[in-house]
Amino acid sequence: MRIDKLLANMGHGTRKEVKQLLKTGNVRIEDTVVKDPKTQVNPDTQVVTVHGEVVEYREFIYLMMNKPQGVISATEDHQDETVIDLLEQEDQLFEPFPVGRLDKDTEGLLLITNDGQLSHQLLSPKKHVPKTYFAHIRGEVTDEDVKAFAQGVELDDGYMTKPGKLTIIKAGETSQIELIITEGKFHQVKRMFEAVGKKVTYLKRIKMGPLPLDETLELGEYRELTEEEVELLRLGRE
Ligand code: URA
Repeated sequence: MRIDKLLANMGHGTRKEVKQLLKTGNVRIEDTVVKDPKTQVNPDTQVVTVHGEVVEYREFIYLMMNKPQGVISATEDHQDETVIDLLEQEDQLFEPFPVGRLDKDTEGLLLITNDGQLSHQLLSPKKHVPKTYFAHIRGEVTDEDVKAFAQGVELDDGYMTKPGKLTIIKAGETSQIELIITEGKFHQVKRMFEAVGKKVTYLKRIKMGPLPLDETLELGEYRELTEEEVELLRLGRE
C-alpha cells in the first residue's frame, strides 16, 4: 500500500498533513528515509518509523457498542446521527461499518468492524448465528406464545420464521422476556410479537453469537473486542 495511506490510516494526520510529515524526512521504511507519498510499503514485512517510533499497522478494527436509542445503525444518514458518528476520529479512520442493523429505538450490542468477511459470516442466513434479545412487552406473554415461537410464527408478509427460543422472565400486563432468534428479518422481534397480538415497547440486544454485551458499557459507549472475543466470533462457539 502507499505510505501516505498507511500513515493516514494509523492516525498520523490527513493525507495532506502526512505529505508534510514525509517532507520533513522523519519517516523511514527500514533504514531509508522516504519522502514520496506514493512510495509502496508492505506493512506486514517492513518496519515503518515516524520520528524513530515504530508504526504499528493493523488492517482491521473490531468494536462492541452499547447502542443507544435515537441513532441509526448505518455509516451515513442525512437526517439522524449514526453509530459511526459516535466513534472517535481515530476509529473512524478504519472506515468501519455496523454488522447488521438494530432499529433506531433498539438498544444494546452492536458490532462495528471493517472486516467484511467476519461480518458476512455473522449475518449469513446459512450460519444461523443466534442473537439474544431482552424486551418489554405490552400484554401478558404466555406459554402458548413460547410454544408458538418454538414452532415459528407467521409474520405480516406471510413469512414463516425459524423457531425462536422464548423465555418469560416476568408475565403480567407488561411482560419481560428473552428471545433467541437465528435470523435477522426487518423488525423481526417486533413483528414476531405482533404475530401473537402483542407489542414490543422496549428492545435491547444482549448477545450476538457467543458474545454477550459488556454490561459495563454505558449507552453510547464502545470498546475494542479482545483477540479472544474476535476468535470466539470467528469460531461461533462459547
Ligand atoms: N428485531 C427488531 O424488531 N428490531 C431490532 O432492532 C432487532 C431485532
